[in-house]
Amino acid sequence: MEAYASSASLPSLICSHRSKPKFANSHSSSVPTAPSQPLLRTTTSSKFKLFSSPVSVEVPLEAADASATAAFSSGDEEKFDWYSQWYPVMPVCDLDERVPHAKKVLGMDVVVWWDRNENAWKVFDDMCPHRLAPLSEGRIDPSGRLQCVYHGWCFDGSGDCKLIPQAPLDGPPVHTSKRACVAVYPAIVHHDIVWFWPNSDPQYKDIFEKKKPPFIPELGDPSFTKIIGNRDVPYGYDVLIENLADPAHLPYAHYGLVPTQPLKGIF
Ligand code: FES
Repeated sequence: MEAYASSASLPSLICSHRSKPKFANSHSSSVPTAPSQPLLRTTTSSKFKLFSSPVSVEVPLEAADASATAAFSSGDEEKFDWYSQWYPVMPVCDLDERVPHAKKVLGMDVVVWWDRNENAWKVFDDMCPHRLAPLSEGRIDPSGRLQCVYHGWCFDGSGDCKLIPQAPLDGPPVHTSKRACVAVYPAIVHHDIVWFWPNSDPQYKDIFEKKKPPFIPELGDPSFTKIIGNRDVPYGYDVLIENLADPAHLPYAHYGLVPTQPLKGIF
């Protein structure tokens, strides 16, 4: 049997000069819908171990610390803050260090790129501060910075603009304007997956020191073999959970793909 741990491609560091997305407040306790990225895990034994729960599907709950979880279950006194949790963005094995990658997480468009100057994966808002072009359409420039595809502005791993090609070299340093910075989210590699914290407010810049992404023991257990993949699906994680919890559909929706046994007395 196979077990999927799916994580919604939900919506990381921070130069960010943007705080929560505008829609965050109005949805702080509602369930965001977003595409999902399933993780497939198998074991080295002949039988696959079935994980007790679709771990990443429940990332929002598992990522929450005890107090947040308690608040979640205690009624309406305190709202669960979807934007104060770690979320998996992409498994590292699916990322190419040579190019930026677009992802949508928690309904947020982000770009994941490798900052060779800091030896770290970065997660930025996928929107250039100049004319809002998607930075994921850009490139890594010869100096290892993220370069916008539209007019070539270049950003370092802190989201600071380091170059505006059209600005005269002997003119005012317009690239240093805060308005020329990109929103940067805290990001970390954990369990060979890039995680991010969907709030670019500078107060969360070192959030990893206070709160870590959820630890999944099986992913660090050498008796398991893990296969991690990434797949975007055009619906929210809540639909995916419902689907994974519904094995009755397998012989029919996956007809011919999964072994089935004839129902005695019916056929
Ligand atoms: S839109 Fe990015 S540099 Fe102009």
